[in-house]
Amino acid sequence: MDAPLRWAGDALELLDQTRLPAEEVWIRCESAEDVADAIRRLAVRGAPLIGIAGAYGAALGMRAATEGEPAAARFDAVARLLAASRPTAANLGWALERAREVAGREPDKPARDLAEPLVDLAEKLAADQRAADERMAKLGAQLLEPGDRVLTHCNTGALATGALGTAGGILAEAWSAGRLAQVWVDETRPLLQGARLTAWELARAGIPFRLLTDASAGIVMARGLVDRVVVGADRIARNGDVANKVGTYGVAVLAARHRIPFYVAAPRSTIDLDTPTGDEVQIEERDATEVTTLGEVAIAPPDAGAVNFAFDVTPNELVAAIVTEAGVLEPPYEESIERALAA
Ligand code: MRU
Repeated sequence: MDAPLRWAGDALELLDQTRLPAEEVWIRCESAEDVADAIRRLAVRGAPLIGIAGAYGAALGMRAATEGEPAAARFDAVARLLAASRPTAANLGWALERAREVAGREPDKPARDLAEPLVDLAEKLAADQRAADERMAKLGAQLLEPGDRVLTHCNTGALATGALGTAGGILAEAWSAGRLAQVWVDETRPLLQGARLTAWELARAGIPFRLLTDASAGIVMARGLVDRVVVGADRIARNGDVANKVGTYGVAVLAARHRIPFYVAAPRSTIDLDTPTGDEVQIEERDATEVTTLGEVAIAPPDAGAVNFAFDVTPNELVAAIVTEAGVLEPPYEESIERALAA
């Protein structure tokens, strides 16, 4: 699949993921504000892809500086705006730190002169992500056995990384290698990334799948219909605790109950050594209307209160392995993570 993001020379074009699968509509982001807004409303989403979009957003922000405005102060304002768009995925802050290194090389230079180097950086981040995805796919597919039925949660394919995907790349590679019989796709309430996006990607790739409501993970496991779980991650703490789409934790607990291996796939840019454990991860809380409505239709009484955590944390003891581009990490994660980041 083509990347859902492309640089048009003067703007960032994004496949609007809020409109899938009904319509394939591309939107143009001409400013850092446009990019921050697209990230906030999930027009572009998935931890690695919002990092790449953030780097392009930084370029657009510098390009819009006033004549002679110095780079350093301008960059701070642009990076703050973009970083505030979504708090949980480590990749956005990580990509903005890479951008800060570029901007910080010549802080007195006019901000506008840094737009091109930042576009180059964004392109490099996208290329690095492509290479990481290929490596994760190869390594992760080896964890599967021919005939496996694999359950996944949320969306972790090209729509989430711009390339093969993390968990999604492993599924695609395992399918080509004859190691996958079928994917179980959690619908992923409330924004339905599984039903709308993962099902769309798997159908286009010709990979057999069945959708299930998030609440059905228990019964399919209890009936012996799931051999493995493979998911992505938004932030991995230093001790291997994994923040991922809300519902992942419940899947991991059920997998442990049924002795089903639970694997996580993520590039090293998702690992955050400054976050000691999952308890310190900032979990995004989104508007309650995403829970009380389905599209335009109310599915709860008008005054119903709702909680809408976008992510949850799976404790490291429930994770059988973390697949990164630097290898398959196993417990104790504090040590294997340190080695992977030093490699
Ligand atoms: O809110 P989203 O759709 O951005 O959440 C995405 C996820 O939780 C994915 O599982 C995660 O980013 C891993 S992506 C390769």
